[in-house]
Amino acid sequence: MGCKSCIIIVYFTLTDKMPYYEFNLNFQGIGGVNKQITIRPYEHADLKTISEIEKETFGFVAYPAFFFRQAYDILSDLFLVAESVDGKILGYVMGAFETGSCDSWILSLAVAKEHRRQGVAHALMEQLLQKLIARGAESILLTVDPDNTAAVSFYRKQDFHEIRVENDYFEPKDKRAVMRKKST
Ligand SMILES: CC(C)(COP(=O)(O)OP(=O)(O)OC[C@H]1O[C@@H](n2cnc3c(N)ncnc32)[C@H](O)[C@@H]1OP(=O)(O)O)[C@@H](O)C(=O)NCCC(=O)NCCS
Repeated sequence: MGCKSCIIIVYFTLTDKMPYYEFNLNFQGIGGVNKQITIRPYEHADLKTISEIEKETFGFVAYPAFFFRQAYDILSDLFLVAESVDGKILGYVMGAFETGSCDSWILSLAVAKEHRRQGVAHALMEQLLQKLIARGAESILLTVDPDNTAAVSFYRKQDFHEIRVENDYFEPKDKRAVMRKKST
Protein backbone atom coordinates (compact mmCIF):
# COMPACT_ATOMS: atom_id res chain seq x y z
CA MET A 1 0.00 0.00 0.00
CA GLY A 2 1.26 3.49 -0.80
CA CYS A 3 0.92 6.71 1.17
CA LYS A 4 -0.56 10.03 0.12
CA SER A 5 2.70 11.95 0.08
CA CYS A 6 4.35 9.29 -2.09
CA ILE A 7 1.57 9.55 -4.65
CA ILE A 8 2.01 13.33 -4.81
CA ILE A 9 5.75 12.89 -5.32
CA VAL A 10 5.29 10.53 -8.23
CA TYR A 11 2.96 13.06 -9.80
CA PHE A 12 5.53 15.83 -9.53
CA THR A 13 8.36 13.61 -10.67
CA LEU A 14 6.52 12.62 -13.80
CA THR A 15 5.05 15.97 -14.70
CA ASP A 16 7.43 18.70 -13.61
CA LYS A 17 11.19 19.16 -13.79
CA MET A 18 12.34 20.27 -10.37
CA PRO A 19 13.73 23.79 -10.21
CA TYR A 20 17.51 24.07 -10.07
CA TYR A 21 18.86 24.80 -6.63
CA GLU A 22 22.03 24.38 -4.68
CA PHE A 23 23.15 23.57 -1.19
CA ASN A 24 26.36 25.11 -0.05
CA LEU A 25 28.12 23.12 2.59
CA ASN A 26 31.33 23.72 4.41
CA PHE A 27 33.45 20.75 5.35
CA GLN A 28 36.75 20.26 7.03
CA GLY A 29 38.82 18.61 4.33
CA ILE A 30 41.97 16.55 4.70
CA GLY A 31 44.51 18.26 6.95
CA GLY A 32 41.80 20.52 8.36
CA VAL A 33 41.60 22.63 5.20
CA ASN A 34 38.14 24.13 4.89
CA LYS A 35 36.56 23.04 1.60
CA GLN A 36 33.29 24.24 0.18
CA ILE A 37 31.22 21.93 -1.96
CA THR A 38 27.84 22.27 -3.58
CA ILE A 39 25.27 19.49 -3.70
CA ARG A 40 22.97 20.00 -6.68
CA PRO A 41 20.80 17.98 -9.05
CA TYR A 42 22.62 16.15 -11.85
CA GLU A 43 22.79 17.93 -15.23
CA HIS A 44 23.58 16.54 -18.69
CA ALA A 45 26.99 18.21 -18.66
CA ASP A 46 27.98 15.96 -15.71
CA LEU A 47 27.60 12.73 -17.70
CA LYS A 48 31.23 12.32 -18.81
CA THR A 49 32.73 12.82 -15.34
CA ILE A 50 30.08 10.78 -13.57
CA SER A 51 30.69 7.91 -16.02
CA GLU A 52 34.45 8.14 -15.37
CA ILE A 53 33.96 8.05 -11.58
CA GLU A 54 31.58 5.12 -12.02
CA LYS A 55 34.05 3.13 -14.18
CA GLU A 56 36.99 3.89 -11.91
CA THR A 57 34.91 2.80 -8.91
CA PHE A 58 32.89 -0.19 -10.08
CA GLY A 59 34.86 -1.51 -13.09
CA PHE A 60 32.98 -4.10 -15.12
CA VAL A 61 29.79 -3.75 -13.06
CA ALA A 62 29.65 0.04 -13.63
CA TYR A 63 26.38 1.55 -14.85
CA PRO A 64 26.67 2.48 -18.53
CA ALA A 65 26.26 6.11 -19.62
CA PHE A 66 22.79 5.49 -21.02
CA PHE A 67 21.60 4.44 -17.56
CA PHE A 68 22.65 7.83 -16.15
CA ARG A 69 20.85 9.57 -18.99
CA GLN A 70 17.65 7.67 -18.22
CA ALA A 71 18.08 8.12 -14.46
CA TYR A 72 18.13 11.88 -15.08
CA ASP A 73 14.75 11.68 -16.81
CA ILE A 74 13.17 9.49 -14.17
CA LEU A 75 14.75 10.56 -10.87
CA SER A 76 14.92 14.31 -11.35
CA ASP A 77 16.39 15.87 -8.19
CA LEU A 78 16.81 12.53 -6.42
CA PHE A 79 19.95 12.23 -8.56
CA LEU A 80 22.49 14.55 -6.93
CA VAL A 81 26.11 15.44 -7.59
CA ALA A 82 28.75 17.04 -5.40
CA GLU A 83 30.76 19.82 -7.03
CA SER A 84 33.80 21.68 -5.73
CA VAL A 85 34.04 25.48 -5.81
CA ASP A 86 36.21 25.20 -8.92
CA GLY A 87 33.54 23.19 -10.75
CA LYS A 88 34.97 19.69 -10.34
CA ILE A 89 32.46 16.85 -9.97
CA LEU A 90 33.44 14.85 -6.89
CA GLY A 91 30.76 12.19 -6.66
CA TYR A 92 27.10 11.35 -6.98
CA VAL A 93 24.19 9.64 -5.27
CA MET A 94 20.81 8.53 -6.55
CA GLY A 95 17.65 7.45 -4.79
CA ALA A 96 14.14 6.35 -5.72
CA PHE A 97 10.83 5.25 -4.22
CA GLU A 98 9.51 1.74 -4.51
CA THR A 99 6.36 1.88 -6.67
CA GLY A 100 3.27 2.44 -4.51
CA SER A 101 5.26 2.38 -1.29
CA CYS A 102 6.83 4.67 1.29
CA ASP A 103 10.01 2.59 1.15
CA SER A 104 12.79 4.29 -0.76
CA TRP A 105 16.17 3.06 -1.95
CA ILE A 106 19.66 4.41 -2.36
CA LEU A 107 20.43 3.15 -5.86
CA SER A 108 24.06 4.14 -6.08
CA LEU A 109 26.71 6.24 -4.35
CA ALA A 110 30.28 6.90 -5.42
CA VAL A 111 32.97 9.48 -4.69
CA ALA A 112 36.08 9.94 -6.88
CA LYS A 113 39.05 8.16 -5.28
CA GLU A 114 41.12 11.29 -4.68
CA HIS A 115 38.25 13.00 -2.85
CA ARG A 116 37.30 10.28 -0.40
CA ARG A 117 37.38 10.72 3.39
CA GLN A 118 36.62 14.42 3.07
CA GLY A 119 32.89 14.30 3.89
CA VAL A 120 31.65 14.30 0.28
CA ALA A 121 29.48 11.15 0.61
CA HIS A 122 28.15 12.43 3.92
CA ALA A 123 27.03 15.67 2.27
CA LEU A 124 25.44 13.84 -0.67
CA MET A 125 23.64 11.42 1.60
CA GLU A 126 22.42 14.11 3.96
CA GLN A 127 20.75 16.01 1.12
CA LEU A 128 19.25 12.92 -0.50
CA LEU A 129 17.85 11.67 2.83
CA GLN A 130 16.26 15.06 3.48
CA LYS A 131 14.51 14.93 0.11
CA LEU A 132 13.33 11.35 0.50
CA ILE A 133 12.00 11.98 4.00
CA ALA A 134 10.35 15.27 2.98
CA ARG A 135 8.47 13.27 0.33
CA GLY A 136 7.17 10.69 2.73
CA ALA A 137 9.89 8.03 2.90
CA GLU A 138 9.33 5.93 6.02
CA SER A 139 12.40 3.84 5.45
CA ILE A 140 15.46 4.09 3.27
CA LEU A 141 17.03 0.85 2.08
CA LEU A 142 20.17 -0.08 0.21
CA THR A 143 22.28 -3.08 -0.66
CA VAL A 144 26.02 -3.29 -0.22
CA ASP A 145 28.72 -5.91 -0.61
CA PRO A 146 29.32 -6.96 3.03
CA ASP A 147 33.08 -7.06 2.30
CA ASN A 148 33.07 -3.41 1.21
CA THR A 149 34.29 -2.19 4.59
CA ALA A 150 34.44 1.49 3.58
CA ALA A 151 30.82 1.53 2.41
CA VAL A 152 29.52 -0.57 5.32
CA SER A 153 31.26 1.71 7.87
CA PHE A 154 29.98 4.75 6.03
CA TYR A 155 26.37 3.52 6.05
CA ARG A 156 26.56 2.48 9.71
CA LYS A 157 27.75 5.97 10.55
CA GLN A 158 24.67 7.30 8.69
CA ASP A 159 22.54 5.11 10.99
CA PHE A 160 21.75 2.32 8.53
CA HIS A 161 21.43 -1.16 10.05
CA GLU A 162 21.82 -4.52 8.37
CA ILE A 163 18.44 -6.29 8.12
CA ARG A 164 19.42 -9.37 6.05
CA VAL A 165 22.05 -10.82 3.78
CA GLU A 166 21.06 -12.14 0.35
CA ASN A 167 23.54 -14.81 -0.69
CA ASP A 168 22.83 -14.95 -4.43
CA TYR A 169 21.87 -11.36 -5.11
CA PHE A 170 23.27 -10.91 -8.62
CA GLU A 171 24.45 -14.44 -9.29
CA PRO A 172 25.24 -17.51 -7.16
CA LYS A 173 27.51 -16.67 -4.20
CA ASP A 174 27.36 -12.93 -4.89
CA LYS A 175 26.41 -11.70 -1.43
CA ARG A 176 24.69 -8.40 -0.66
CA ALA A 177 23.76 -7.05 2.72
CA VAL A 178 20.46 -5.17 2.79
CA MET A 179 20.63 -2.18 5.15
CA ARG A 180 17.81 0.05 6.31
CA LYS A 181 17.40 3.39 8.05
CA LYS A 182 14.04 4.41 9.47
CA SER A 183 13.00 8.00 8.89
CA THR A 184 11.82 8.46 12.49
C1 LIG B 1 31.82 4.55 0.51
C2 LIG B 1 32.17 5.93 -0.06
C3 LIG B 1 30.99 6.43 -0.89
C4 LIG B 1 32.42 6.91 1.12
O1 LIG B 1 32.65 8.19 0.56
P1 LIG B 1 33.50 9.31 1.33
O2 LIG B 1 33.22 10.62 0.69
O3 LIG B 1 34.91 8.87 1.40
O4 LIG B 1 32.84 9.25 2.79
P2 LIG B 1 32.91 10.38 3.93
O5 LIG B 1 34.20 11.11 3.82
O6 LIG B 1 31.65 11.18 3.88
O7 LIG B 1 32.97 9.44 5.21
C5 LIG B 1 32.11 9.57 6.31
C6 LIG B 1 32.41 8.45 7.28
O8 LIG B 1 32.21 7.16 6.67
C7 LIG B 1 33.17 6.23 7.20
N1 LIG B 1 34.12 5.82 6.15
C8 LIG B 1 34.24 6.35 4.90
N2 LIG B 1 35.23 5.71 4.22
C9 LIG B 1 35.75 4.80 5.06
C10 LIG B 1 36.80 3.84 4.95
N3 LIG B 1 37.54 3.74 3.82
N4 LIG B 1 37.06 3.04 6.00
C11 LIG B 1 36.35 3.15 7.15
N5 LIG B 1 35.34 4.05 7.34
C12 LIG B 1 35.05 4.85 6.30
C13 LIG B 1 33.93 6.98 8.27
O9 LIG B 1 33.22 6.79 9.49
C14 LIG B 1 33.84 8.41 7.78
O10 LIG B 1 34.01 9.36 8.79
P3 LIG B 1 35.52 9.83 9.18
O11 LIG B 1 36.23 10.17 7.91
O12 LIG B 1 35.25 11.03 10.06
O13 LIG B 1 36.14 8.67 9.90
C15 LIG B 1 33.49 5.89 -0.92
O14 LIG B 1 34.47 5.17 -0.20
C16 LIG B 1 33.28 5.26 -2.29
O15 LIG B 1 32.94 5.93 -3.27
N6 LIG B 1 33.55 3.95 -2.36
C17 LIG B 1 33.39 3.23 -3.63
C18 LIG B 1 31.95 3.13 -4.06
C19 LIG B 1 31.10 2.40 -3.06
O16 LIG B 1 31.52 1.45 -2.40
N7 LIG B 1 29.84 2.85 -2.99
C20 LIG B 1 28.86 2.23 -2.15
C21 LIG B 1 28.34 1.06 -2.88
S1 LIG B 1 26.94 0.36 -2.03
